[in-house]
Amino acid sequence: MIDLKKRIEKNKKISHLFTLKTDVIAEYFFEAKSRDDLLAIKKYSIENKIPIFILGGGSNLAVTKKIFPGIVVKNNYQDLQIIEENNENVKIKVSSGYSVSLLILKSIENGWSGFEYHYGLPGTVGGAIYMNSKWTRPLVYFGDCLIEANLIDNNGDEKKVDKSYFKFAYDYSILQNTKEILLEAIFLLKKDLKGNIKKRAQEAINYRKKTQPLNLASSGCFFKNPGNISAGYLIDKAGLKNFSVGDFCVSDIHANFIINKGNGKREDLIKLLSIIKNKVKEKFGINLEEEVIII
Ligand code: EPU
Repeated sequence: MIDLKKRIEKNKKISHLFTLKTDVIAEYFFEAKSRDDLLAIKKYSIENKIPIFILGGGSNLAVTKKIFPGIVVKNNYQDLQIIEENNENVKIKVSSGYSVSLLILKSIENGWSGFEYHYGLPGTVGGAIYMNSKWTRPLVYFGDCLIEANLIDNNGDEKKVDKSYFKFAYDYSILQNTKEILLEAIFLLKKDLKGNIKKRAQEAINYRKKTQPLNLASSGCFFKNPGNISAGYLIDKAGLKNFSVGDFCVSDIHANFIINKGNGKREDLIKLLSIIKNKVKEKFGINLEEEVIII
């Protein structure tokens, strides 16, 4: 039996777990280090009627509430196993808390192709599947190579599903609606020469470095692209590059990135988001919708 009570902390400051580095206090906090921990905390949340939020790399979130309500579960379940392998393909099982960067480095090292264009994407496998993270040059989604997955359903039980269950689309997977929890993802990757994979990964990271403020506190692209237009282009053309409210600022490199210059307050973020949306609506008649999850 896992003694959860001893491991659940109350009113814990967790700002460091978010790439946007805003002030965040979790009502309750738990670190899950294994699949059993994830199953146990889900059961606990059901039995005690406390909502649960699974936190991956904290790279696609903005917290505007003073207290993050319920139990914030930092997913540190780390595991990668080869299930099957032949000359052409490899089937791997990866845990939801596994880092995307580490997965990509391992893929390059082993000559597994499928994730290389996501090189530079922060976060965990759980977050990348939940969001179905994408790269647009060429257009590839993180869910593309998934074949099956193990989930925790809303009764706290394990459930095996195949790819079609996820209904993957731009910035979308069914997990956003069902709130089921990813335990492990099973991917089918193609074998290729390391050099070829590395070259494609390098292309992606070079483009990111050139066009995105990678080393600053942000949560990546803040708004979804409305159709085929870049939200960054629209915010830029609305004259908002470098515009700031307090320490929150529209990046001068890519206008869909909001940067925390140090001490960004949640009220400032709320104000900046509203100004961006209003200006884009005024100038282009387009309603921007957040890609980042707002708590
Ligand atoms: N542009 C501007 N000003 C800006 C930003 C972009 O004029 O401030 C122009 C660019 O010059 C380019 C066009 O808009 O002509 C498209 O820009 P970019 O190639 O940077 O792509 P994007 O559509 O803005 C999308 C994804 C990014 C992803 C890149 C590259 C969304 C919301 N964004 O950005 O994803 O990294 O393509 O594949 O879909 C993320 O999800 O966090 C993210 C950053």
